[in-house]
Amino acid sequence: MTQSTINPPFVTKGYACRVVDMKKEYVLKSETVRALRGVTFDVPEGDYVAIMGPSGSGKSTLLNMLGCLDKPTSGSLWLGDDDVAQMNDDQLADIRSKRIGFVFQAYNLIQQLTVVENIQVPLFYQGRSLSKEQHAKTIELAKLVGLGQRLDHRPTQLSGGQQQRVAIARSLVNNPYFILADEPTGNLDSRTTEEILQLFEKLNDEGRTIILVTHEDEVSKRAKRVVRLKDGRLQWDRTNSQEVREAAAKYAIENMPVEE
Ligand SMILES: Nc1ncnc2c1ncn2[C@@H]1O[C@H](COP(=O)(O)OP(=O)(O)O)[C@@H](O)[C@H]1O
Ligand SMILES: [Mg+2]
Repeated sequence: MTQSTINPPFVTKGYACRVVDMKKEYVLKSETVRALRGVTFDVPEGDYVAIMGPSGSGKSTLLNMLGCLDKPTSGSLWLGDDDVAQMNDDQLADIRSKRIGFVFQAYNLIQQLTVVENIQVPLFYQGRSLSKEQHAKTIELAKLVGLGQRLDHRPTQLSGGQQQRVAIARSLVNNPYFILADEPTGNLDSRTTEEILQLFEKLNDEGRTIILVTHEDEVSKRAKRVVRLKDGRLQWDRTNSQEVREAAAKYAIENMPVEE
């Protein structure tokens, strides 16, 4: 077990997560790859962060750590009062299924299930049957993402944008520390990308924390903040002004291709 750099009580209230000198090394036969070389940053609750950086800079590694899919070699990742770096595999799996909302480029919906059932999937992983309240909540989430009229549709009966909205609703079902989105608009055309970005804005305005990886400037400009990685280090961390965000939204809408 690695040594935590900071012991509780450490102020985590008001933060979705705090990352302190986080390092991740992959030990291979011939070499050790230092994928993250000491990354420190905080994500306050309600933030909206875009992670950027060239291929190989450590974005996926960072996302895997934030999503509790793997744990740091050293340093700390605080989610609430827990340091993920100190957890065992069972604890990681537990926090991952209960407190992290994942959104993927390829939606990752279950084809046999309806919209509502797909939104409920993370609850079933917890091995209990659904309460009345939980069932009602999943319907509320479907409505929140604009799919209130499509509760019993299956993924094949939905557009790509609608499928991604189901995935976003599913990511919210566990009241997560944050929505973690890996290239969420990577498969979508510009009109549908805009639909998803507007949904993220709405969710963020309601106080939900969003962390996404993107390589598109148009997407990163819509976030409140951009964190750029290079060679496993944080190269810069900037706030997007309200003007930049609004101008990017305006540009996207004005340059939307005309519908056939
Ligand atoms: N599971 C792994 N085993 C060995 N090396 C890895 C593994 N995952 C990533 N790497 C290496 O770590 C570095 C960062 O990779 P990654 O986090 O995937 O970057 P990015 O997502 O920014 O392209 C790269 O050199 C990559 O080859
Ligand atoms: Mg990657």
